[in-house]
Amino acid sequence: MRLLWLALTDSGPSQNILNILQPSDHLAPLQPVTRRLSLATVLLKSWLLYLLTTVRCALYGALWSISGRWGWRIHTTVAHLPFGLVLKSTRASHGDGDALRMLDTLRVNSVNAPILIDSVHDGHVAHALSTYVDGEWCPAVHDLSRQDKERLVGDVRNQFASLYSQTHTTIVDHPICTISYTTVVDPRVSWVSERGLQLRSNEEFFRQVWLGIDFEKNQHTVRPRIEPVIIAARVERIVFCHGDLAERNLIFPGGLSAWRQGRSRVCLIDWEFAGWMPEPWDALKATISECEADNEWTRMVRAIFPRAGQFLDADWIWRAEAGMGII
Ligand SMILES: Nc1ncnc2c1ncn2[C@@H]1O[C@H](COP(=O)(O)OP(=O)(O)O)[C@@H](O)[C@H]1O
Ligand SMILES: [Mg+2]
Repeated sequence: MRLLWLALTDSGPSQNILNILQPSDHLAPLQPVTRRLSLATVLLKSWLLYLLTTVRCALYGALWSISGRWGWRIHTTVAHLPFGLVLKSTRASHGDGDALRMLDTLRVNSVNAPILIDSVHDGHVAHALSTYVDGEWCPAVHDLSRQDKERLVGDVRNQFASLYSQTHTTIVDHPICTISYTTVVDPRVSWVSERGLQLRSNEEFFRQVWLGIDFEKNQHTVRPRIEPVIIAARVERIVFCHGDLAERNLIFPGGLSAWRQGRSRVCLIDWEFAGWMPEPWDALKATISECEADNEWTRMVRAIFPRAGQFLDADWIWRAEAGMGII
């Protein structure tokens, strides 16, 4: 497949930030995504199929406690187990498990993500057992070279484009919801789950994202610039979104230098906020922690999601001027 590489200029905000280049001859080509389980993990997966849910819940509960005592925890919710496994246990209504299972059903290996071995929910805690991605965490973008940034944009953009093209739903009135078809649970729109809102269209969804544009103070300032984007959102596809793209959720398997040489593809972890969402959602979520509208990361996000530009612009207007704040 011919890839278009996006070169990010270091120019100021007013200048054109993207030049689309032909396949870059100074960057190693992207390898196809390969996701393969070792024989041992295939056998483990098959064995777990024979166990009752209650037994597996007890097993993961015990493993979680042991991991605390034996120093296997690498994060408050994540334990690195022996044999290249990871156990993520969260007090969420759903964990990463359903999303990772969904990725397994894609026809084409498109997204490099941990491979799910098993997942259960014991009523309080969601446990997901998956493969450990042995590699290097993505450094802060300002520590990446210009070529790394180009490569990262190309790699991530290619994975998302493939994910979206395989998952976009053709069902009329498909709800906007979590992977488990429950109300959207996301800190960016925390009020949606608090009020148990069922969102049946992109328009309804974006009216929740950009709350308060009808308030008197916003009516003649913010609303005229955001309303057309909400209307334009009607035709956006509903796709399977990751929901938390950030440097901290990217791992270079085998290390940065293997990735630079084209021997691996960047891996996307942390699928807890994945769901059926309008396509521009991943771009909005990827910039949620940014305090500036135009910095290296936001420019990369625009290049990764080239169709999300007007939604990112609207989001910045809302965040800067609507006076609503995200709690
Ligand atoms: N499959 C994995 N392989 C390697 N490290 C992982 C994996 N899953 C999680 N981690 C490590 O645990 C950290 C937290 O996991 P993450 O799923 O991002 O949890 P959170 O939802 O709390 O951000 C990650 O930043 C990473 O360091
Ligand atoms: Mg994370």
